Formats: sequence, structure tokens, C-alpha cells
Amino acid sequence: MTTDDLGACLRLAEDRQWGREERKWLFLLQGGEGYGILGPEGELVASAVLTRYGTRTAAISMVLVASRHGRQGLGGRLIRHVLDQTRGATVFLNATGAGRPLYERLGFRVTSPVAMHLGTFTGEAAGASRVAVPEDLKAITDLDAEVVGADRSALLARLSGFAEQIRVIEDGRRVTGYAGMWRNVTNTVVGPVIAADPQDARRLIADLASQVGGPVRIEVEECRRELAEWLTGHGMVAGMRTSDMVAGGRVLPGDRTRYFAPVMSALG
Ligand SMILES: CC(C)(COP(=O)(O)OP(=O)(O)OC[C@H]1O[C@@H](n2cnc3c(N)ncnc32)[C@H](O)[C@@H]1OP(=O)(O)O)[C@@H](O)C(=O)NCCC(=O)NCCS
Repeated sequence: MTTDDLGACLRLAEDRQWGREERKWLFLLQGGEGYGILGPEGELVASAVLTRYGTRTAAISMVLVASRHGRQGLGGRLIRHVLDQTRGATVFLNATGAGRPLYERLGFRVTSPVAMHLGTFTGEAAGASRVAVPEDLKAITDLDAEVVGADRSALLARLSGFAEQIRVIEDGRRVTGYAGMWRNVTNTVVGPVIAADPQDARRLIADLASQVGGPVRIEVEECRRELAEWLTGHGMVAGMRTSDMVAGGRVLPGDRTRYFAPVMSALG
């Protein structure tokens, strides 16, 4: 698929009661590879997007099958086709309850349950970070590569045009953390969040979320209990539960102790 398929993707999403996430689809289709299956009248009946991070990891997202074509094997066929394109990369995704059994049959295993926290942030800015400038891109990209163990430079180069704001936190010598936020249909998503420790993660989130004044969303792994409690205590309560999954018994590379939130669940 290309960005010309955006309208068809949005119709497919609406059929499954997903929002019209136009900016998000565009961002994903521009930076990744969109795959679709056409129905008898040439209409899009199934979708998936593959985003590669160099050759080491790849994310699958936006897996949808039109409800009238559900349970006919299209979802499984499409994911198998996408997996065939990944050439040895460690493939991961974030699964809804509806998608999880399908992915399990295809050899994905749950690595972590994830909770979506949503609400108006009631805390104050920590004042510990600053707005990133173009000259920070190299430091952000290097730090990101250490933490996720893959080359996300293409994604990060595009993120500044997509995000409302990106902030960095420093230890006096170098950038030790960064975070961004971007506008979705009905809320502002805080992500990614990469930080040296939980305190810096909270500071980055506070410096971003305190500017919003409306619903803010963030996806947090359920093992981050302290962060979840802090978010809940600041108006962002846990809602929908999903599962992070990785294919073929692999483990994601990098230093995940410094990884606090994805750019979006579609991208890691
Ligand atoms: C999740 C989703 C993509 C699955 O797509 P799908 O095309 O229905 O998937 P498949 O047909 O390959 O497999 C689904 C089920 O149908 C069964 N099935 C497949 N072919 C079949 C056939 N010919 N006859 C009967 N059942 C069949 C599969 O065994 C599977 O069974 P299970 O649900 O009991 O495990 C689809 O339900 C969807 O779009 N859901 C909403 C959006 C969503 O949550 N997407 C996942 C994001 S992570």
C-alpha cells in the first residue's frame, strides 16, 4: 500500500470501530511498508504495516480484517506474508485481545502485558528537561540505538516533524534521556520515553503532559508498577490492556531498563 490507500485504510479501521487516525496512518505508511488484501470488488479487506529498524528488528502494526471477512484466514495469511518479508529480523508487535490468539498460532509469545493510561494530567512540570533542538538529533539517535538495540534513525529523523514537542534531559555532559508527544484524534500521546531511571522518566512525562490541558495517553508495561501508580495519581488512569509480543522465541535487543514508553504501540 501507499499513502494513496489512506482513505481505504481509514474505512477499514472504522469498520472495526477504530478511530480515524489519519496522521498516524500517514506517518506509518510513509515510514514503513503497507500490505493489503483486496476483496472481490477491489476494496481493501485486510491491512498490515511493517516498519523495519535497520536489519535487526521490525514492528508489525495496523492489522485489520474487514468484519464481513473475519475468521476466513485472511489475518493469518497476511501476517505470514509480512513475516516472510522480514529476513531474519526480530519481529515484535502490540496485540489486542482479538489479535493475540492469531499471533500465538503464528509463533509470537507475550513478553509483557501493557496498560494504556489516559486522562488529563494533574501534575506540574518538573522543569528538568529542555526542548530538543536539531543539533540534538545525533545524541538522541545514539542513545535510542543503545536502548532499543536497533537503528531507528529514519524514524527519529521524521519524528520532529510529527511530534508536537521532543524534550531531552542531560546530566551536565550528555543527553541521558528524551521523550516526545504527538497529537492523535482525541488525545495527545506521550511517547517515546527513554530515560536513565524512573525518576527522569517521570520528569520528562511531567514536562510534556503538563502542557497539554486535555486528555493525554501513554502506554506502559505493567511491570512498571511505580510509574503506573504515579500516572494514576496524576489523573492518567489505566484503561485498555494489550500485550507486547515477539516472534519466534526471540528477545528484543538493547537495554530495555531505560525504555519507558513506545512512540506509539504500532512502532515500539
Ligand atoms: C484480529 C483480526 C485481524 C483477525 O483476522 P481474521 O482474518 O479473522 O483472522 P484469521 O481468520 O486468520 O483467524 C481468526 C480465527 O478464525 C479461524 N479461521 C481461519 N480460517 C477459518 C475458516 N476457513 N473457517 C473457520 N474459521 C477459520 C482461525 O482458526 C482463528 O480462530 P480463533 O479466533 O478461534 O483462534 C480481526 O479479528 C480484526 O481485524 N480484529 C479487529 C482489529 C484488531 O484487533 N486487530 C489486531 C490488532 S493487534
